[in-house]
Amino acid sequence: MQTELTHIAGALGSFGAHVETAAGSCDTHGAAEVLVRKGSPWHCPKCLEAKMAAEQHLQWMAARSADLMHAATIPAKYIGQRFIATTEEQRAVRKTVKLFSDFILKSATWAALILVGKTGTGKTLLACELAQALMASAARSIRYITAAGMVSEIQATYGREGKSEETEIARFVQFDVLILDEIDAIRNTDNASLLLTEIVNRRYNANKPVIVISNQPFDHLGRYVGERVHSRLHENSFSCALNWGDARRVRQPAGEGAAA
Ligand SMILES: Nc1ncnc2c1ncn2[C@@H]1O[C@H](COP(=O)(O)OP(=O)(O)OP(=O)(O)O)[C@@H](O)[C@H]1O
Ligand SMILES: [Mg+2]
Ligand SMILES: [Zn+2]
Repeated sequence: MQTELTHIAGALGSFGAHVETAAGSCDTHGAAEVLVRKGSPWHCPKCLEAKMAAEQHLQWMAARSADLMHAATIPAKYIGQRFIATTEEQRAVRKTVKLFSDFILKSATWAALILVGKTGTGKTLLACELAQALMASAARSIRYITAAGMVSEIQATYGREGKSEETEIARFVQFDVLILDEIDAIRNTDNASLLLTEIVNRRYNANKPVIVISNQPFDHLGRYVGERVHSRLHENSFSCALNWGDARRVRQPAGEGAAA
């Protein structure tokens, strides 16, 4: 080791005058000699390597998470927003969402998170918050879209050269998690129902979880999404009923509440 380092220092020519070998020991990796700038303290080469790898990994995660965020099409309104649970019911729903999240991170299998409740109860917010956590901490790919939006995106390929329905369907199957908002608001046409069934069924077969959101109670969803989709939503199902008031009606612009 010593001769090797002296050799390297020699090979560096005039630069060699500014470097020296330093010896030291690390609790984890033991003794080592390294080439340092004259007067610089010794460092463990293995710890340095590990630190650089960790930094590189963090950089990679940040870049990946930015790419994932871009592809996820989360509405700007919900980016960085948190669902605040103040009641027992809200805490219970949060817990179910966490159970779903733990389940899909642990087992690569089909699962469905169902968020149902009246308007303004925080369904979209909860789903988008979970999506952002899954992208940032587990690098999962997510797509957020309304069911009607998904059908329109696929139908937009009809008659367009170079785009096929099949490619578009495959795109919606490929994401690790698909969030289908307003799933009951799908247009009641044969083609829309077929496309929804096809995507849910392909995801089901490929062990890829979904999050579905609706204003209708879970038991009634079959009328809107069809029995084949409804049935699949019952397998590995994490169901949350958000049974509280419309947050939009109780929130007021800053200052307005204080005047009342
Ligand atoms: N628990 C909460 N903590 C913080 N903000 C909340 C909470 N619940 C709702 N909000 C806010 O209230 C508004 C309505 O929430 P959101 O859009 O998620 O409702 P929704 O259930 O999806 O309604 P809709 O069925 O009409 O789409 C948003 O501005 C959201 O950020
Ligand atoms: Mg919503
Ligand atoms: Zn070390």
